[in-house]
Amino acid sequence: MKIKLFFALLFLPLLIFSQNIEIVNGPYIQKLSENEATIVWTTNKDAVSWIELAPAGNDSFYAKERTKFYESSHGSRIIGKLHRITVTGLAPGIEYRYRIFSKEIADYAAHRILYGNIVSTDVYGKKPLSFVTLDKTKPQISFKIVNDIHGKNDNLQAMLKDVNKENTDLVIFNGDMISSVQESQAIFTGFMDKAVQLFASEVPVFYARGNHESRGKDRTFFYDYFPTNNGKFYYTFSHGPVFFLVLDGGEDKPDSDIEYSGLSLFDQYRTEQSEWIREVINQPDFKSAKFRVVIMHIPPTGSTWHGTNDIAEKFLPLLNDANIDIMFSGHTHNYKFIRKGDESKLNFPVLINDDETYLDVSVNNQGIHIEQKDMTGKVVNKQVIK
Ligand SMILES: [Fe+2]
Repeated sequence: MKIKLFFALLFLPLLIFSQNIEIVNGPYIQKLSENEATIVWTTNKDAVSWIELAPAGNDSFYAKERTKFYESSHGSRIIGKLHRITVTGLAPGIEYRYRIFSKEIADYAAHRILYGNIVSTDVYGKKPLSFVTLDKTKPQISFKIVNDIHGKNDNLQAMLKDVNKENTDLVIFNGDMISSVQESQAIFTGFMDKAVQLFASEVPVFYARGNHESRGKDRTFFYDYFPTNNGKFYYTFSHGPVFFLVLDGGEDKPDSDIEYSGLSLFDQYRTEQSEWIREVINQPDFKSAKFRVVIMHIPPTGSTWHGTNDIAEKFLPLLNDANIDIMFSGHTHNYKFIRKGDESKLNFPVLINDDETYLDVSVNNQGIHIEQKDMTGKVVNKQVIK
C-alpha cells in the first residue's frame, strides 16, 4: 500500500503538468452595445487570452488573418483563469463571428515565460460562434426574462431551451439566479453553464442583481463575471424602441440584520443609486426613447420589509416622474400584474414574474407585448403596454 502511494505521489506532478489546458466555462456575451461586446470565459490553467473577430459571412474563418483583441490591463497582457475581452469598433445591428484563444502559462520565472498549449473554440468542425450588436434603430426587438431560478438548472433548461440569436435579441436574468455566491464556481454550476449550453455564447445576458447574489463569501467577485458598461450593477442600455434602466434593489432586510453579519451597506448604496437615477432620467436619450423599461429584482410595492420601504422612499419619487412604461420584477415567486394607479404611490405598471415562468417580450413602435409562459411554453398571461 505504501509503495503504491509513493509511486502515486511521484507521478502526481507529471499528471498535473500533462493535463491539457481547457476552456471550463463559457464563452458568454456581456456588456453588449452598438459598438462593443465583452466575451467572458474561464480556463483550468493560468493563461493569456485573445479573440479573433470576423464579420459574418460564408467565407471560412481561416480565409485570412482576423482582427485580434488581447486581454490586457495598463499595457500588459493579463495572466489568469478568468478571461474577459472587450471587442471594440463594431457597428450597430451587425453580426460578427468570433473565436476565443487561451495560451497556457506553464511557468513564469523572472523574465522567462514557458508557454504551454493553446486552447480555442472550434471553427473547423463547427460553425464559428457569433453575436449581433444592439441597434437603436431596429423596429422590433424580442427578449426573455427569467428570475428566481435559485440554481434550478432544469427549470432554466425547460424555459429557455429554444432561445437562439434568430428568435431572441437578449436575455435578462432578473436576480436570484442562485441562492448564494458562497463560491464563484456556483455561478456556473447554478445557472451559467446551462445558459452557455443553451444560448449565452451567442445571445447576450443582461443581469439585474438580486438580493441573493449579494450573499456568500464570493459575493464581491460576482461583478467580475457580469461586467457592465459603467462598472456597476445599476446601468442602462438601449435597443430598438426601448431604453432599459436596470436597477439594484439590494437586500430586503435592514443592513444591521443578523443574517448579513455586519457586511451590508445597502441604505447608502440605494442613496447613491437614487442620485444616479436622477441623472439618467434627465438624459436626452432616456427622454426621447419610445419606451422606458425598468428592470429591478425587488418590486417597489407589496411588502412592508425595509428593502421595499427604502426603494419606495428613494427610487419611486424619481421613477414616478419619469414616464416609465413598465417595471419588471421578481423576488416574490408569485406572478402579479399591478396596473398603474392600482397600488398607492405607483405611477407606472409593475409586472412581477413567477419563479417557474418566464416572460417572452416583443416590442415595436406600437407597444410592448408580454407573454408569461410556463415551463411547457404555454402562455398563461398576456399584457400589452401601449
Ligand atoms: Fe429575491
